[in-house]
Amino acid sequence: MATPLTATAADSVAAPAARDSEAASSSTLPMDAVRQVIDACAQNDLACIEKFLQQDALFACQQDLETGLSPLMAASQAGHLNLVQQLLEHGAPWNAIDRQGKCAGNYATDNQHWNVVNLLVDWGTRAELILGELQRSQQRINGKAAVDLTQDSSTKPDYLQQSLHYNADGTALLDADEDAVMMEWERPIMRAHAQVLLGDIVPPRPRRVLNVGFGMGIIDTILQSDFQPTQHYIIEAHPDVYQKMIQDGWDEKQGVTICHGKWQNVLPQLAASKVEFDGIFFDTYAEHAMDMEDFHRQMTDILVKPGGIYSFFNGLAPDNLFFHGVACNVIKLQLDKLGFDTEFLTCQIQVQNINNDKVWQGIRRKYWHNRDVYYLPRVTWNQEFLGRKTKVMQGSSDQDDETMDMEGSEDHSPLKRQRRIE
Ligand SMILES: C[S@@+](CC[C@H](N)C(=O)[O-])C[C@H]1O[C@@H](n2cnc3c(N)ncnc32)[C@H](O)[C@@H]1O
Repeated sequence: MATPLTATAADSVAAPAARDSEAASSSTLPMDAVRQVIDACAQNDLACIEKFLQQDALFACQQDLETGLSPLMAASQAGHLNLVQQLLEHGAPWNAIDRQGKCAGNYATDNQHWNVVNLLVDWGTRAELILGELQRSQQRINGKAAVDLTQDSSTKPDYLQQSLHYNADGTALLDADEDAVMMEWERPIMRAHAQVLLGDIVPPRPRRVLNVGFGMGIIDTILQSDFQPTQHYIIEAHPDVYQKMIQDGWDEKQGVTICHGKWQNVLPQLAASKVEFDGIFFDTYAEHAMDMEDFHRQMTDILVKPGGIYSFFNGLAPDNLFFHGVACNVIKLQLDKLGFDTEFLTCQIQVQNINNDKVWQGIRRKYWHNRDVYYLPRVTWNQEFLGRKTKVMQGSSDQDDETMDMEGSEDHSPLKRQRRIE
């Protein structure tokens, strides 16, 4: 099910709509002039733009009331790279969306202006990382984040107290708000994840796997039937799901260990008992992206070095491909910093199965939107990082942080290898 967005992509994707409607409904600038600026951006008429910006810097940001089009969108659509840079530097929001839900990055992508796309991805990624860091330090200082994370659309602080139920035909597990915790259509995706986690491990090499979030037990069933793990740990926090696991006999399966509790409490115990995993999968529900970031940090203690593989359900910013790309990039950089290499395998999915109205009947929020490609994350240890880490540990000081350069990656594309989901 939809994993939360990155710490801040969640806010960015939620926020632009608000920002857009706010800006669009409460402009203090004359709309005629706003439209002139937007036209000038489409034409790259720098003299005209400059004239308006000198009058009021807000002209760089103001969207057309009717269409939601912004100067940045117009410049991106036309591929004016330098102008896009200037507008961003003047404070134009990279993530504003128009009335059709399109952002500047979508306009640049649709028109194949890849230099503009790259610039916007870089800008968005940096903005997200900075915002995420700000939230973290705010949390450290005040004990709470600058923005109320519980208000984030993907976060449900009372989820574990809610009663869960299945829909009529048993194809979805729902929470009390009729939001889907997990759905049957994800089975092929789960199969691909299982394959990535354990498919390359040939016995007698042990297959020790950890799954975080049981849901409908789809990936766990596939791991059991297709890969017969040597050790199979499952962390599950919700009492209803746990009860169903016991009812279905998961506690009696050979090699299976159920840890009933939140991963936040279980992971430190696993690390303390020196348990390690060749494959780790993360797919929780109702948590914030900052939780996911915390998980990544803690997971470094229990993923086998150097050969362990980590993956997570990639429901980041699902309703806009450009935001999805930025969110993937943010996660990739965060994982880089922890010593991992991340690639996103492109998997074709049969969208007609997902878009079938019947599939979403009775479900409050559709969390997959007409996209036929799933970008499956495959995360492995960076061998150079491990080498450096070993040297530092053998050597003197605690300079580990120097090996963690946030800006270090040059790969901004989540798309690398092709893998078809059957
Ligand atoms: C999307 S479902 C997992 C679906 C699973 N991948 C499958 O194949 O069926 C998410 C699960 O994570 C559990 N969960 C949510 N927060 C958790 C936490 N902090 N620790 C452990 N489990 C959690 C939920 O109760 C739910 O069962």
